[in-house]
Amino acid sequence: MHMRTRVGLGAVATGIATTLFTATAIAAPEPGAPGAGDPYYPFAGNGGYDVSHYDIRLTYQPATDQLAGTTTIRAKTTQSLSSFDLDFGLHVNSVLVNNIPAQFHPHPDENGELVVTPAKPLNPNQTITVVVNYADTPSKVVIDGYTAWKKTPDGALAVDEPQNSQWWFPANDHPTDKATYDISVEVPDNVSALSNGTLVRKTKQRAGWTRWNWRSTQPQATYLATLEVGAFEVDQSITPDGKPFVTAYDPATGESLEAAKSSVERTPEIDEFLGTKFGPYPFEAQGGVVSTGLSFALEAQTRPVYGAAFFRSGSNTSVVAHENAHQWFGDAVSLGRWSDIWLNEGFASYAEYLWSEHEGEGTPAELAQYIYDLYPADDPFWQVLPGDPGAAKQFDDAVYDRGALTLQALRSTVGDEAFFKILQTWVAEHKGGAARIEDFIALSERVSGKPLQDLFRTWLFTAGKPAAGPNGASTF
Ligand code: ARG
Ligand code: ZN
Repeated sequence: MHMRTRVGLGAVATGIATTLFTATAIAAPEPGAPGAGDPYYPFAGNGGYDVSHYDIRLTYQPATDQLAGTTTIRAKTTQSLSSFDLDFGLHVNSVLVNNIPAQFHPHPDENGELVVTPAKPLNPNQTITVVVNYADTPSKVVIDGYTAWKKTPDGALAVDEPQNSQWWFPANDHPTDKATYDISVEVPDNVSALSNGTLVRKTKQRAGWTRWNWRSTQPQATYLATLEVGAFEVDQSITPDGKPFVTAYDPATGESLEAAKSSVERTPEIDEFLGTKFGPYPFEAQGGVVSTGLSFALEAQTRPVYGAAFFRSGSNTSVVAHENAHQWFGDAVSLGRWSDIWLNEGFASYAEYLWSEHEGEGTPAELAQYIYDLYPADDPFWQVLPGDPGAAKQFDDAVYDRGALTLQALRSTVGDEAFFKILQTWVAEHKGGAARIEDFIALSERVSGKPLQDLFRTWLFTAGKPAAGPNGASTF
């Protein structure tokens, strides 16, 4: 929400006859803010409206990297608007607002930002429908020196963090504005189009092309919306608890293909295990996509995407546990600001320790101790603050590893029972929305009944190697 208050120009009561019409503030329409107010990424997201649904309907030709179609956005205004922004980098043909053609132009100060001026100003608290028609070659679109769209020999991947939507659909691109999605992509018959949620159906409207229609019914952050086009081997089944389970493997994974399958096919078992720690799995579907076109992994909602290299030396269920833990921490409960990234990466890394213990490969205390002892006190590792690493170090090792150690320090301070109650209450109270580190600290104090400001200040917000235990102890 990015509500602004203005001093109203409303009626001034001048006499007895007008007292029925009390102080109706009519704010003059003004432009929506070009950002959601996130200090790390000032142009991420936009002010003045909240999106409830994206209907993305595209055709993609891998041979030429041509992406074309429309995105329809359903949103509600939160102020009166003379204009509003969309985060988007592709070439736009037309924009309709409530079925009336609107003017549009690139933001003068920022690439990947489109300013839309409706024919008439919009009232606050009004439901609007915005239809954007576009066509472009996403791999040629550079925003702030970067291209998130990853062209592969047989397709492309829309997989990145903190931004990827600007290369394939117009959006209010900030994790605080979550929405449901229909993602429908027509591709040549020899490739598949994978995305989030449930495959509602596959349709054929013209020879040689197939349209894949995906649906996400739970609120989803924009960076967690995903698209993978390629000659994948696609497998569909049902999890033991009755959810669609869709996996896709890039045949170019080669010798690692069986290791990848041995890992990703265990997703339902891993999600069931994580559910015993964090509360029930939060979404309607599961799965995973393995691609050689990616060097990292990303927790796309319901369907994480894994770089094939994760499986180079055999099975790797740690990365599957990590990306699936994000379904609770990051996807169901999203970041209030990008500086809160510890709430994603520290928690998903700690979940790897929990899964290792389940597999008989060491306890969380042992694993945390190993990492703690690995970095001497003068290592630059201890200079990065997991609670506010800066945009350039958002995915630094410290956010992951020191972030996980922070949770072990919390656990050893409050005890197992309070620790898991904190985690479960956190998800139960915030799923479907977004929250901040300060909310987690407050919840931890509330559930445990212990003062914890010092612990979090030391572990998340102070440079230097903290003591692992109480009174300067070097063990957890
Ligand atoms: N959230 C991802 C993970 O689970 C990290 C993504 C890093 N982003 C990137 N562009 N390399 O670890
Ligand atoms: Zn992660």
